[in-house]
Amino acid sequence: MGKIVKVITYGTYDLLHQGHINLLRRAKELGDYLIVGVTSDSFDRGRGKLNVRNNVLERVEAVKATGYADEVIIEDYLGQKIDDIQKYDIDIFAIGSDWVGKFDYLKEYCKVVYLPRTEGISSTMLREESQATYKIGVVGSGRIAHRFVPETKVVNGAQVTAVMNPNGEEAESFAKTHGLTAYTDYDIFLKDVDLVYVASPHLTHYEYAKRALLAGKHVLCEIPFMLSKDEAIELYKLAEERGLVLMEASKTAFCPAFGHIITLVKSGIIGDVVDVKASLSKMVAAPTRELDKTQAGGAMTEHAPLTLLAIIKLLGTDWHDVDFHSRMENGVDIYTKGVVNYPHATASFTLGIGVKTEGNLVVSGTKGYIYVPAPWWLTDFFEVRYEDQTKNKKFFYSYDGEGLRYEIQEWLSMIVNKRHSCYKLRRRESVAIADIIEKYRNHEKVTVI
Ligand code: CTP
Repeated sequence: MGKIVKVITYGTYDLLHQGHINLLRRAKELGDYLIVGVTSDSFDRGRGKLNVRNNVLERVEAVKATGYADEVIIEDYLGQKIDDIQKYDIDIFAIGSDWVGKFDYLKEYCKVVYLPRTEGISSTMLREESQATYKIGVVGSGRIAHRFVPETKVVNGAQVTAVMNPNGEEAESFAKTHGLTAYTDYDIFLKDVDLVYVASPHLTHYEYAKRALLAGKHVLCEIPFMLSKDEAIELYKLAEERGLVLMEASKTAFCPAFGHIITLVKSGIIGDVVDVKASLSKMVAAPTRELDKTQAGGAMTEHAPLTLLAIIKLLGTDWHDVDFHSRMENGVDIYTKGVVNYPHATASFTLGIGVKTEGNLVVSGTKGYIYVPAPWWLTDFFEVRYEDQTKNKKFFYSYDGEGLRYEIQEWLSMIVNKRHSCYKLRRRESVAIADIIEKYRNHEKVTVI
């Protein structure tokens, strides 16, 4: 009896369709034993596939149900195919013809066969067909709004169609750059869109967000989300009463690496957290709104939301005392250091727009610490460190594009699944951030240095 011929193939197999079934049949026909590698959820997210509908268990079950797979394995890391081929003693690697040439590097280990792809069907097509496409309107046309529009293109289910700016020229110019319709009248704009992204000047967030909610639109609002605790509470309540999703656009909160830092810390790998130090410094040159007192400029309104996010996610919302130290210039804080005290821990944040400092994040615990180098808010790497350096561990992630796609994806998922709250950034955490910013703006415990 000759050696049995082992075949391996890989895929996501989301919303399993006829194309997958044909491919698996053809792959099985190439030999005697077929192994199918199904991508894990985190592997797909890591390679930028953010829209997969079925989770890994559902996808594995669907592949099993075709009856062609003799064995199903999970693909979880880059380079795994070479390991698998050797480990399972594979004779043939098979994949659809959309990949022609891409896997020739495996020829060193086994035979590589590109099988004909079934025309006219794909998971992407099925996802697009089954999902309503929402029209997003962007309020404001500044830097972050420019970065937002291309990021929506990698997330299924929504398309930016409109921009609102009371300054007609600015609205027109933004609309021209991104192929949108320009509006200067907010009520008309609200009638023409389904979802609203508020990226207007700080002092207008509350008003724009509230009017959008009153008009029945879901809202994603840039940071600083609200400048007072009561405003934040009021709008979250209004959103919930109307069955709408209101989300703070705290992009770091939704990034894969940041989420993993939080879960690692909560699972105790550095012991009890005793100190969190978060810094963020970006120099700006006048004239710019960041240095304009009348537009609520300053390091605190500009950068506190992300540093407070880190502190509050790690230590919670029951701090008992906050104080601030600021260097002022023309009525604007160009540097602020704040200390947030908890019953059993302390935290500090250092923010600069006219003072340069290292922008890293350090979380210190009773067993070790986590070090996230600058710019920690765009996390793609961090290290867990111990006294015994041989125990140190480095973690790497991808941080795709401008990083806004993760929050957009979460916002749409909340809308589709009718969720008002998200564990990545709870409403009470968002309210606590607004509360601390409000205390600062009310000059509570602020020392000018
Ligand atoms: N495949 C195929 N014919 C199709 C779709 C997929 O032969 N119409 C093959 C792919 O070439 C691959 C396997 O099925 O070998 C798994 O592909 P996967 O990426 O899961 O499927 P797609 O439908 O292409 O998914 P997406 O649209 O998310 O890229």
